[in-house]
Amino acid sequence: MDSAANPKKAVPTPEQDTAWKNYVEDFRGAGHETVEWIARYFNNVADLPVLAKVKPGELLDALPASAPELGESYAAMLSDFDRIIMPAVTQWNHPRFFAYFACTGSAPAILGEMLAAALNTNGLHWKTSPAVAELETRTLDWLRQWMGLPAGWFGIIYDTASTSSMHAIVAAREMVAPEARREGNPPGLVLYTSEQSHSSIEKGAIAVGIGQNNVRKVPVDADFRMRPDALAAMIEQDKAAGKRPFCVVAAVGTTSTTSVDPVPQIADIAEKHGLWLHVDAAYAGAAAIVPEHRYILNGAERAHSLVVNAHKWLLTPIDLSVFYTRRPDILRRAFSLVPEYLQPQGDPRAHDLMDYGVPLGHRFRALKLWFVMRYFGREKVEALLRSHIEWARRLADLIDADPRFERVAPVPLSVVCFRYKGTDEDNKAIVDKVNASEKFFIAYTVLHGKVTLRLAIGNLATTWEDVHEAWKLIQGAVST
Ligand SMILES: Cc1ncc(COP(=O)(O)O)c(C=O)c1O
Repeated sequence: MDSAANPKKAVPTPEQDTAWKNYVEDFRGAGHETVEWIARYFNNVADLPVLAKVKPGELLDALPASAPELGESYAAMLSDFDRIIMPAVTQWNHPRFFAYFACTGSAPAILGEMLAAALNTNGLHWKTSPAVAELETRTLDWLRQWMGLPAGWFGIIYDTASTSSMHAIVAAREMVAPEARREGNPPGLVLYTSEQSHSSIEKGAIAVGIGQNNVRKVPVDADFRMRPDALAAMIEQDKAAGKRPFCVVAAVGTTSTTSVDPVPQIADIAEKHGLWLHVDAAYAGAAAIVPEHRYILNGAERAHSLVVNAHKWLLTPIDLSVFYTRRPDILRRAFSLVPEYLQPQGDPRAHDLMDYGVPLGHRFRALKLWFVMRYFGREKVEALLRSHIEWARRLADLIDADPRFERVAPVPLSVVCFRYKGTDEDNKAIVDKVNASEKFFIAYTVLHGKVTLRLAIGNLATTWEDVHEAWKLIQGAVST
């Protein structure tokens, strides 16, 4: 509606509205206050309950059903943030958050994130932001070196490992069945991954139209690692039935137990049958930075692609998933679709990130990882990861010394899986008691058909004392 027809409701233009003039100054004040808030939060997060205490719908009901007509002050917004948003936040930064994969952000990454938001620059094309393309290339090459991956691998940042692995599946299809790009999936494509692999692999296959029925779940050995003999047999069987095996996904650090699939043997099989080999190292890949744990990536140099999430164990807040491939030519062939207005520069050093995946827009995520790598340096990151792995080992020893408990899986990294030698209900009751304390958050998984407690270490703020206190609480939670 023309506002001139209704003068009372006329919306002032930016020139008439003095509030606009204060826009930058308002930001400066509230920005300083917000940084103060974050610093206080870091100092005090251990005093907050780990798990949000709200009931479903509680926050929703506390929020107005429609957005304000008139702008509000930062003071009002920050006050509501404290009053109604914070109680609904589960504190992933809490040093006693031991559930799932305990992930860690960090202060330098927050500053990088802030600057990326300030610039709001979009690196879809080299020209649209050379800084996004080139800092991403350089930062991912630094990380590649830290992890001991081969020189020359191409890296790109996506949002999550689920997205990274989906791109791997498309590249795999492009390598084996390039006609699919034009004609859609040919019949019979089959993907292999272990029965312990993350659901994102199956979801990726669903999204790419491979179909759940064509995802083979390869059995694992007693230590939850993919059995290469079973993989080889399944591929032979599928080929004999006229199917087209095209991709195998090995896990380095499965979600439940952090088991490490035997990548060298899997690579032999993938090479024999001409399959794309993708390594899902979303969590555990970071551990390769620690020299004595570099072995976890043995064989990965023969993979076609690998994913590692900086937003899991690499001090970077969600989201930042790093996808490496030694065949960027195939990834590009799969995804490049260039409109007239985005023609390339014609300079071999100017690559356009939009050519290597589904998203056109490309956030300046590299900035936060660059800040992390420069602020901490390799030595500090290595020391942090090493201490997490060592504490998991120490906890495993304490569990082994208590005859009421049994460990259910090896502890190659920073996750410990164990159970009270009672019923599933007893073990679930322990999880409930520990979490009801509000001071700790642990989760459970199911291994060998039994409910298994799972304690994951991975936060920058965690100390051995936090881990030890969790163990004491778990021991005390056993109903006698
Ligand atoms: C081994 C593994 N792969 C992939 C994922 C999915 O990660 P994202 O949330 O980044 O998609 C996870 C999540 O925990 C994981 O453990």
